[in-house]
Parts: sequence; C-alpha cells; structure tokens
Amino acid sequence: MQKKRLVIANWKMHPVTQGEARKLFKAVVKRVSRVRTARVVICPPTLYLGDLASSYGGSAIIFGAQDISTEEGEGSFTGEVSGTMLKRLGVEYAILGHSERRSLGETSSLVAKKVNSALNAGLVPVVCVGEHERDNDGGYLHWLEDEIKASLKGVSKSQTKKLIIAYEPIWAIGKSASDAMDNDELHQTALFIKKVLVKMYGRKSANNVRILYGGSVEPSNDDSLIKVKEIDGFLIGHASLDPDTFFDVVTNG
Ligand code: PGA
Repeated sequence: MQKKRLVIANWKMHPVTQGEARKLFKAVVKRVSRVRTARVVICPPTLYLGDLASSYGGSAIIFGAQDISTEEGEGSFTGEVSGTMLKRLGVEYAILGHSERRSLGETSSLVAKKVNSALNAGLVPVVCVGEHERDNDGGYLHWLEDEIKASLKGVSKSQTKKLIIAYEPIWAIGKSASDAMDNDELHQTALFIKKVLVKMYGRKSANNVRILYGGSVEPSNDDSLIKVKEIDGFLIGHASLDPDTFFDVVTNG
C-alpha cells in the first residue's frame, strides 16, 4: 500500500507580486485538491500568507510559514512575526532552521528557541538539519547529531508527536535530481537520525517524529526516494514553483 506522504512546498522568496502568488496558489489547489495519497502544505512568503489564508483557508491545502520569531504573542520586536500571529491566521506549520537562514547567521540555539515558540503557539515545527559536505570518515554524522540535539533543545518527549525533522543535505539543495541523494544514502542517514532521536527520547517517542527529505526532489527521483521506509515525505523548493511539476512530485510513485 502506498504511504500517505507529507509534501511541504517551500516557495522561498518567490514570486515577486501578490497577483502571481495568488495565480500560483490557485493553480496548485486546482491540481492537488483531490489527491488523497498526500497531505500538502504550502509555505509562501509571510507577506502573502494573510491574503492567501483569508481567500483560500479551508481548501484542501494547509498553510505553513518559512520562519517565525523566537518571541511569542506580541511585543516590541521590530520586523518579527510571532507563531501566535501565524496560528491565528490559520497557519499550521513552520519551517525552522532552513540552511538558507542558518547561512545568514541563525544558530542551532536560536533555532531551538523558535522550535519551542512554535510548539507553544500550536504550530508544527519542521526543523531543517543537514551537513554541508560529507567526509569519508563519517565526521559529518557527529556534526549532524550535534545539530539535531542543539536544534531540539527544550523539546519534551510528549511534544515529539508534533515534531517533523526535514533532513536536507546542503550539498543537494537547489540542484537537479541527479545531484540529490540516492535511496541507499538516504536510508542510511534516516536510520542514523532515528538512532539519534531514540537516544534523546526513547524508541516509542522517537517513532512519533516524522522525517522528511529535501534537496533537489523532482518528479524523476521522488517515486524512488519515497520508498525509503523511514521517509514520510518531502520538503520541496524549486519544483514547487511550477504547478504541473509539483503535482507530479505529490502524486508520483
Ligand atoms: P530544492 O530546495 O528542492 O530547490 O533543492 C529544497 C529546500 O531548500 O528546502
């Protein structure tokens, strides 16, 4: 039986106008609203979330944010948007600690604050982790373990039910399917991530955590990657900006 996959579209800083965002969103809804084999979450730029959520809330699509503030509720935090505000708008997920934000200086301890803030606001955090490169001695695995532990600091066992880890090796992001991981590498790494989670939370709670893969997922590789038992779905960047391509990624396999 095909597993019901979770597919999260990360639009990043696209498109450049609200009109284009509406057009893209409508085209995606038209294609995926009858799909029963996947849950689809769209994460547009925060600027468009209000408009899209008020116009299309209640459709088959779930909304997610690309980032949130460490701060909860409201306050004197110029430029910030809280998880509470997003939740009130109808947003359910938040991508946190994406490598493109980490490259702007976001540390794992800041990410952990955001993860806790998201959980307190009732959002599902999608915590991004992944190594810059791989060495032959497996040093990157220690690095990955440290990143996972630091990014989840303060998250309790009972909160694992709401937790998602998006494993996104940085070397595979924004390329093409041939640069993504193969099944075997993904299987080994997903098993390693599970092992780290078991160490942190025990087997039962670790099994609650869903694991997604992201990094150059396209229609030509998603059907094979989804066969990796430990993988519950994908975080999709460039392939989510074309409605037909995205539909293929959501339904392939
Ligand atoms: P990509 O991006 O699918 O374009 O590689 C994935 C991501 O950055 O989340």
